[in-house]
Amino acid sequence: MNILVTGGAGYIGSHTCVALLEAGHRVIIADNLCNSNLETLNKITKITSKEVIFYQIDVTDESAIDNIFSKHTIDGIIHFASLKAVSESVERPLIYYYNNVISTILLTKACEKHSVKRFVFSSSATVYGKNKVPYVETMKLLPTTNPYGETKAISERILTDMAKVNPDWSVALLRYFNPVGAHESGLIGETPNSIPNNLMPRITQVAKGKLPRLYVFGNDYPTTDGTCVRDYIHVCDLAKGHVAALNKLSKGVHIYNLGTGQGTSVLRLIHAFQETNNIKIHYEITARRPGDIAECYADVSKAERELGWTAKRDLSAMCRDAWRFEKKHAGP
Ligand code: NAD
Ligand code: UFG
Repeated sequence: MNILVTGGAGYIGSHTCVALLEAGHRVIIADNLCNSNLETLNKITKITSKEVIFYQIDVTDESAIDNIFSKHTIDGIIHFASLKAVSESVERPLIYYYNNVISTILLTKACEKHSVKRFVFSSSATVYGKNKVPYVETMKLLPTTNPYGETKAISERILTDMAKVNPDWSVALLRYFNPVGAHESGLIGETPNSIPNNLMPRITQVAKGKLPRLYVFGNDYPTTDGTCVRDYIHVCDLAKGHVAALNKLSKGVHIYNLGTGQGTSVLRLIHAFQETNNIKIHYEITARRPGDIAECYADVSKAERELGWTAKRDLSAMCRDAWRFEKKHAGP
């Protein structure tokens, strides 16, 4: 299939492009490079020995989108392009609503105009709000605590409503849990623009000496060791989930959690990193981070049952691959 991948130069998008190319699909990337760089495209080609078609466009630009849909026969779209920093979305809500919601509207409009019937959307576990774990796709969504999460919930609703009036559409709403790690080649991975907010890139930066220590945000949560629990998933497993969704999608709207189903505490992840890579991580317990929930992990049985997909890589592989990428590429 010819797949249009918006945000394909980014972290999850680039790994998904590799998985798509390896599965025999052709890839057209649309990315404005606001949080990525051109070099990633060469690395995708280096890993797969296959070329991608690239358009440096903003997916809030309707005519630029239309140009791509007019030039290529597109069989399906995976829409990754989005701003994703939760705290920034609280400070600059309009930029997030504009970028993340308008892009979904315009891409959906282009799909309708050009009869593209397969749409895979990058959603997030954040849409579950304060539901009880494990999160199941059938749960009623609760309000999220930030504009970023709202943009995901709104985009899900737009796609669901559009699929109702286009009954021959196949839409997958993929709710990711916590993607970490990097491609085993060490060529592509996550390259945060500034000091990262997320746990794994902070651990690797402490390991490298770029940050003096890791602050663990709170050890008084009602969890086994008092630190927050998340469902970390290797980005290559996540990427394969997209290929499975594209291949197996039937008509209608289908929601899938993409996680491992395993909860891991902050301290457990630190220890796994230390043991796997034989490196000491200096950390200090500090106050809770506002907005954090105690536990977030998935029920992944639906994706396994319907897509035949499960995450294969364990915590050790996540820690090993994240560290390999940090050592090789992410800065000095
Ligand atoms: P990323 O920032 O690495 O990738 C996003 C890409 O989209 C970047 O290459 C950026 O340049 C591009 N982009 C953003 N706005 C654009 C626009 N208007 N026009 C064109 N390109 C644009 O982020 P990621 O971690 O790869 O996330 C991919 C998707 O997954 C996002 O939709 C994100 O919200 C979602 N998601 C990510 C996580 C996570 O923890 N990484 C968790 C849940 C959901
Ligand atoms: N944490 C620390 N120290 C740090 C960074 C994080 O202790 O320096 C802790 C956090 O408090 C949290 C856990 O590590 O308990 C994971 O934090 P991340 O920032 O890595 O991930 P979150 O679960 O907070 O957020 C992720 C994505 C969001 C998404 C959210 C909901 O980054 O985009 O999951 O699923 F919205």
